[in-house]
Amino acid sequence: MKAKQILDRYLSFFEEKGHKRIANSPLVLANDPTTLFTSSGMQALIPYLLGEAHPSGNKLVNIQNCLRSQDIDEVGDNRHTTFFRMIGNWSLGDYFKKEQLSWFFEFLTNNDKGLGLNPSRLYVTVFEGDETVPHDEESITIWKELFSQKGIEATVVENAETNGIQEGRIFTYGVKKNWWSRSGIPENMPTNEPGGPDSEVFYDFGTPHDEAYGEHCHPNCDCGRFLEIGNSVFMQYQKQEDGSFKELPQKNVDFGGGLERLAAAKNHDPDIFTTDLYNNTIATIEETTSKSYTDHKAQTHMRVIADHLKAATFLMVDGVIPSNKEQGYILRRLLRRASVKMHQLKGNVTPDADFPVIVDSILRTEAELDEKLNDEENRKRVFSVLEDELQRFAKTLTNGLRELEKNEVVTGKIAFDLFQTYGFPFEITEELVKQQGKSISYKEFKEEYDKHKELSKTASSGMFKGGLADHSEKTIMGHTATHLLHQALRDIFGKQLHQTGSNITTERVRFDFNHDNRLTEEEISQVEDMVNEKIKENLPVHFEMIPTQKAHDMGAIGLFMDTYGEKSKIYFIGPVKGSTDKPYSIEFCGGPHVDFTGELKSFKIIKQENLGKGQKRLYASVGL
Ligand code: SER
Repeated sequence: MKAKQILDRYLSFFEEKGHKRIANSPLVLANDPTTLFTSSGMQALIPYLLGEAHPSGNKLVNIQNCLRSQDIDEVGDNRHTTFFRMIGNWSLGDYFKKEQLSWFFEFLTNNDKGLGLNPSRLYVTVFEGDETVPHDEESITIWKELFSQKGIEATVVENAETNGIQEGRIFTYGVKKNWWSRSGIPENMPTNEPGGPDSEVFYDFGTPHDEAYGEHCHPNCDCGRFLEIGNSVFMQYQKQEDGSFKELPQKNVDFGGGLERLAAAKNHDPDIFTTDLYNNTIATIEETTSKSYTDHKAQTHMRVIADHLKAATFLMVDGVIPSNKEQGYILRRLLRRASVKMHQLKGNVTPDADFPVIVDSILRTEAELDEKLNDEENRKRVFSVLEDELQRFAKTLTNGLRELEKNEVVTGKIAFDLFQTYGFPFEITEELVKQQGKSISYKEFKEEYDKHKELSKTASSGMFKGGLADHSEKTIMGHTATHLLHQALRDIFGKQLHQTGSNITTERVRFDFNHDNRLTEEEISQVEDMVNEKIKENLPVHFEMIPTQKAHDMGAIGLFMDTYGEKSKIYFIGPVKGSTDKPYSIEFCGGPHVDFTGELKSFKIIKQENLGKGQKRLYASVGL
């Protein structure tokens, strides 16, 4: 079964059960500086899990592109990737455990509407309970009944992590395995963060247990026999300031399953890179490197290249530009790591001219699953950003090589300086040192490398400070300033100009848009004056939930995400609510906003950046 068919079946299955399809959010969530990347489907739904009414109702389904950069070092085995697609369905205070577990089991096992997996290959886990949250007896009872309907007697193995496998079907684990929140176990959750116990389904490939991973096998064992294919989170708790949990006003279900892993289970082959989500890319890498995927060492490198270039492609499509911080740093790291692996496969130190060919094959495969990849403007941006970055990396290599040649003994400090100054990857330094027959002060070099690895792990995972999106006075002002800036730019440069990204912190507003030329000093002043004029006019700001089509017809602009929702939240600047006066600005937006533009006090553009062909970025401050 092709991945596309899995997606179509999943969406139809849940739509038939009354779910409304919602859109895929971008990998970098607009206006949520608390998190680096979208790493699960629920991330964009936090306000609704906490009780706000969702415009599409309380039963939702979607396919979400996700990126987990903290997994970067795991990539290379048969199942870890940084980029993946998550199929997701949600109950926002509607159905709970019984429906969720039964529907997902039906989807997995039904041949006509679902995947038709053999139920005897499925194993499940539930929460064993702790001082605050009880042992999940309810899920155990439901699972027993579901398996019994398939003629399978499902016995329970308690405390699976310590007991290991015995003959069992339902396994209980503690918070490390069967509790889900954005920040992991309860102890790590910040105040107000929602979370809850979960129940996971594993597929058994039947491969022999590898004792290197422990004496006994069990679903969460890493030996590769079992693969987790879906996680139903019963999101019903919220962390309190004193560390305790209180029940949320509504009991939610947050389900997520990895498409790549479901496809592997359907193929009954544990290697996700042999599914149609990767096989064209792997074939292209084989062609460009003249190496075979069946060669064990080449295989690991090929998986890294295939994953990293796919993740990089999606980041570029979503407007990320390589840089030395935040999302841009991860993009740069993905491209450079892929480059190093390519270098190891081909044995030459040039940034790889083959990348555009591989990226083209990724775009062709992915275009079948995600219409964004068909968009000509997006494709052009990907190739142009890639070209710029490869050129920059070529310079890095030349400068780094020169620096290396100057030193007979390469100490850890030199390697680290090469990394910091030229972005010269440690792996390449190590390899070149060997090739040039120089000596290397290994102890120090390794230490520096580990320090760097630890640092970059913190950089990628540490971004999620926890807590909910910042709703401080300053960021609320920033949201409204963004709408005024967007409108002013369109008034001055025309309606072809549109927002391509934004990010707001308490310090500044960042706004990306399509525009060829750098703004002149006069143009910057013109934009500032226009925004300040609207601030002075003290226009009222309000929102209305209106049918999505009607909003489009009214000319609403903005980073419009919810393409499937029937109703959307639209912010108006200009008339008071109920008036028929023409609004100054109409935007799709989740908010929140100030009540009157006068609250912004003043607006100033502080910096302009070029984001590559046809894309500009402005930074502005507000409220001074
Ligand atoms: N939030 C859960 C996860 O990411 C289920 O969607 O696994």
